This record gives sequence, structure tokens and C-alpha cells, in this order.
Amino acid sequence: MKINIMKNVIKRSSGSGAEFSLIRYNHITKNHQATDLLGFFTEELKSIYWGEITLLRALSEMISYAGSYELGTTLTLHYESTQNHITRLEDVFTGLGIKPEAKNCEAMKGLVKETEEIISKTEPGSIRDEGIISAVQKIEHYEIATYGTLCSFARTLGRDDLAIILQKTLDEEYDADEKLTEIAETKQFELYDEGEKERETNKAAKTDLKDKDTLKGPLDPDPA
Ligand SMILES: [Fe+2]
Repeated sequence: MKINIMKNVIKRSSGSGAEFSLIRYNHITKNHQATDLLGFFTEELKSIYWGEITLLRALSEMISYAGSYELGTTLTLHYESTQNHITRLEDVFTGLGIKPEAKNCEAMKGLVKETEEIISKTEPGSIRDEGIISAVQKIEHYEIATYGTLCSFARTLGRDDLAIILQKTLDEEYDADEKLTEIAETKQFELYDEGEKERETNKAAKTDLKDKDTLKGPLDPDPA
């Protein structure tokens, strides 16, 4: 499930598209107390920096709730990647000549909360794993959208050096999303197989009951 963001990134970064972005985001930034595209870029960086730190903490929890070895391994690898994402964001801040700063991100807060709710409402097993995967994929899609936009902004600002750093993270977010899709599809097959077995067992149980009824015959009438 790959979001087709790169097309937009290329479109935005070329010719009049870049000018359009500047006009559009100069308008948007009024609400973010930023006065220009660089300001909006910086605000977005702070927000995703907060998001990555929050995700890192959440992932350490999620790993312990993953039922399957494969999901646990994928989340562990993503935990390690997320550490690199944080370091890269710090490099981008440094490249801009400012200190790294985290700004509360309501979107990431909500997405992480959803993951916690899924864990609290499910028992360990395939269903919980499916729930964790779906919640983490939502987080990945949010990150893909954010890093896609940040890459575009960096190029528009003439900071290809920063865009290259951000693109590395964007590629890793895509990879993590694809891996989660693979696991989810495998899990769905497992669930289907489990469901089939359960249906077969139910059928056998019904037949068994029917046979017992036939053997037992009608109830004896009251001796009275
Ligand atoms: Fe990330």
C-alpha cells in the first residue's frame, strides 16, 4: 500500500509549481506564526521531531505486545530506524543553523493513542497483531506524507543537501510500510486458515450432536 506522494513532490518542485507552493504556504503559515516557507518548514520539522521521539517510546512498548516473531522483529528494526530518523532531523536542524526543538504534534499523539487503545482492547494473538500493524501503518502513512512535503520544501528552498537527508528517511518509511503490508497479508491468510479450521470443527460438532439425537430417540413420556 504505497502512497503516491513522490509524483506530487516532483510536481511541486518543478518550475511554476514551486512558485505556487510558496504562495500557498505563505498563506497557510499565517496560522503557524511563521512568516515564510522557511518558517513553515522549520515548524514542520519541530513537529515531526516531536512525533519521532514519541513514536520511539511507543515502539518500545509495541514490541513487547507483538505476538509473532516476524512482527516483533519488524518493529524492532523500525525502532532502530526511528533512532536514525531522529538523528537525521537533528542534522537538518544543524544544517539550518538552529538548535533541535520538539513541538507537540496532535496528529502523532492521536495515532499513538489509537495503537494503545487497540492493545488494551485485544487479547494476545493474531487479531492484536493485525490491529498493531494497521495502527503502525497509519503512523507510517502520516510520516510518508510529512517527509514527502519536507523534501519538497527543502528543494524549493534550494537546500538539496537537506532534501537528500530527508529523502533517506522517506525511503525507510516506505520500506517499513511495505514490510508491514507483507506481514498483514500473511496474518490474514493465517486468520483465514484458523477460521476454516474452526468452521470445520463446528460442522463436525453439529454432526456429532445430530447423531447423538438420532441414537437417543424421542424423550420418554412422563411415567405418570
Ligand atoms: Fe520515522
